[in-house]
Amino acid sequence: MFAESKNQLSTLPSKNSLRQLLGWYRRHQRPMPWRDDPSPYRTWVSEIMLQQTTVAFVIPYFERFIKKFPNVERLASAQEEEVLALWAGLGYYSRAKNLFLAAQKIVKEHRGIFPSDFDSVISLPGVGRYTAGAILSIAFQKPYPVLDGNVSRVFSRLAAQNKTSQEFWKMAEEYLDRDHPGDWNQALMELGATVCAPENPRCEICPISPACQAFKTKTQNLFPVPKIKKPFVRLDWSFLWIEREGKALLWKRGESEKLLKNHWGLPEVGKVKAEVGALIKSGAHTITHHQIRLRVYAGNLREKNPAQAIWVEKRELPKLLVSSLWKKCLPGGN
Ligand code: ADE
Repeated sequence: MFAESKNQLSTLPSKNSLRQLLGWYRRHQRPMPWRDDPSPYRTWVSEIMLQQTTVAFVIPYFERFIKKFPNVERLASAQEEEVLALWAGLGYYSRAKNLFLAAQKIVKEHRGIFPSDFDSVISLPGVGRYTAGAILSIAFQKPYPVLDGNVSRVFSRLAAQNKTSQEFWKMAEEYLDRDHPGDWNQALMELGATVCAPENPRCEICPISPACQAFKTKTQNLFPVPKIKKPFVRLDWSFLWIEREGKALLWKRGESEKLLKNHWGLPEVGKVKAEVGALIKSGAHTITHHQIRLRVYAGNLREKNPAQAIWVEKRELPKLLVSSLWKKCLPGGN
């Protein structure tokens, strides 16, 4: 299983020294709904949802999504708004838009059958090297590695070195168990998520600590060296709550907006002609490294048909207002 080749592993723990990991994973993996039936479609949806989001948070979203869209065809024939509504609260909404676009591409170009070759998978919108590797290894048992934050941390400690992501990808390729690529990749991710944690790693229960250079030199807390975080950008957003006959005015944000591009939302002050009245709500919301101060004022519309705007029944608002930012803006929401 673990054929050694002459490569950078000569200065790193040997492939053989990690052989306990697979058995550990099979005994200790956490139950996850996509693991019960790792079809390409379910694996793809779960991997997209899991980007920048924890397993526990994703599970209910995954269950609802699969119930409504059990296969690629059903997803491809949905309305974008329906897909976004099921994504509401998960954040990074371009993931949902790309999922929807990719489903249409799979139906058009692959007759609804999820492609199984690397070039086709990576050319789907929203799919990068990580996601392509995850789908191909988990759903098709093809020998492609994955590298995410968890895996990089495990590698960084195993080697007791900081490396570039290109070097970590090379490690991922060399350590990959080509006979069990899906379980191997998930084992690395699971180890990073549950044992080789960013702070206070639980080396005493780690199945590969005997091979770990950082453990051996008691430097596990020094790896990986933290990345310099992007500084927070503070923004002030002021919106109008404009109501008429049980309906509220929504405004479609443009393509050129930096955040929540093309989303329906409350009109920002200045985007429609309106008198700005009393402050009715204020709050704060964070999107990536943007800290946004929110203020919502009662608005009195002074034009008949504002561009990019529609009147929406108040009870229908949650269907169109996808970001959890809007919950903090709506009267009565929080
Ligand atoms: N994080 C992203 N994908 C995962 C998977 N398949 N298993 C565990 N953690 C993950």
